[in-house]
Amino acid sequence: PGPVIIAVDGPAAAGKGTLARRLATALGLPYLDTGLLYRAVGRRVLDAGADPRDAAQAEAAARSLAPGDLDRGDLRGPMADMAASAVAAIPAVRAALLDFQRVFGRDHGAVLDGRDIGTVVFPDAPVKLFVTASVEERARRRFVELRGRGVAADPAQVEAEIRDRDAQDANRPVAPLKPAADALLLDTTALDADAAFAAAMVMVEGRL
Ligand code: C5P
Repeated sequence: PGPVIIAVDGPAAAGKGTLARRLATALGLPYLDTGLLYRAVGRRVLDAGADPRDAAQAEAAARSLAPGDLDRGDLRGPMADMAASAVAAIPAVRAALLDFQRVFGRDHGAVLDGRDIGTVVFPDAPVKLFVTASVEERARRRFVELRGRGVAADPAQVEAEIRDRDAQDANRPVAPLKPAADALLLDTTALDADAAFAAAMVMVEGRL
């Protein structure tokens, strides 16, 4: 068998990152947070004083992305969230980031989390999880996370931002947020991180 690819897709703040990281550790696989790639592109466009919806600027930023861009501390927060989602709707940006993601998993396998890993990046992945939770629960988790980082936030505004970003990600023509036909659905609304991990491991073991 080839290298094992585990695709973990789903909407914002569903717990994909925490889950994917734990799966990677448990299975001894490299982990890639693909949202970070779009965040870094959005950040570079904002830094240049340009509009993240500007396709030429965003494509140039995606093509010249360097590893150091992913280590920046300012890639999370409302501005970065929306800039990432805006550049992610531009086909040339997605095309520019595709190779990096495929090469990352090619030799040793990987756990990747994102929106289109199971549908576009690795359509042949043996394991595809689509992780969801109610929008209220996702907003609550994001609010708690922001507060934990000392970021002032308004709960209603956090929920509105999550709704907007999900709508933008699900309605874009290229690589929209949606479960692959062969994805296993994991609703974490009533699950804590340990329970979500345990449920995901059962799904993974069933597919490997
Ligand atoms: O996962 P995260 O919330 O960090 O992703 C930020 C944004 O990047 C998403 O809202 C989405 O627009 C975009 N994204 C994407 N495809 C991926 C990962 C992220 O379009 N595979």
